[in-house]
Amino acid sequence: MILEDHVDHVLIDQDRLRARVAELAAEVSCDYTGVEDLLLVCVLKGAFMFLSDLSRQLTVPHAIDFMAISSYGTSTESSGIVRILMDLETSILDRHILIVEDIIDSGRTLGYITRNLSTRGPASLRICTLLDKKERRVIPISVDYVGFEIPDEFVIGYGLDFAELYRNLPFIGVLKPEFYE
Ligand code: IMP
Ligand code: MG
Repeated sequence: MILEDHVDHVLIDQDRLRARVAELAAEVSCDYTGVEDLLLVCVLKGAFMFLSDLSRQLTVPHAIDFMAISSYGTSTESSGIVRILMDLETSILDRHILIVEDIIDSGRTLGYITRNLSTRGPASLRICTLLDKKERRVIPISVDYVGFEIPDEFVIGYGLDFAELYRNLPFIGVLKPEFYE
């Protein structure tokens, strides 16, 4: 069986992803024109593919750093108990920070990350997420850049996983329920 047989349907294909990432990059480039010391903070692992495409299309100078977190919970739901597995390499004091995330669901993970990073004295802190499951929000989060609002379905691909698989799919798809039930 090949990987794509696990996909129930494609939600966002490669062309739509490419076009929307280009729009986001243009918007971010415009907003940060003339801003010194922009740092993109990529939340691993899910945002790695989005970060690499977004970064390549930005026309403003920026540095990149990574943070890995684990959030406990069931296989498809986060608990809000978040642990930093790998912290940023650099200080964010007085720097302009753009958090790059794959998806916001309940908001618990980003709620934790923004609270944590804001204690470190950044000059500014904004959030760019590829996907937003807005109707699932439990913790209010003010998101500055959203790629796509999506319905309440478990999605995989373009960096997003289920049990560490499917990150390599070049599109955002919905996993067949038989593979996570
Ligand atoms: P939250 O803490 O509930 O907002 O969940 C955010 C994290 O849960 C994301 O960073 C993802 O790692 C994961 N997540 C939430 N929904 C999905 C999904 O549909 N597919 C894959 N991962 C998801
Ligand atoms: Mg994530």
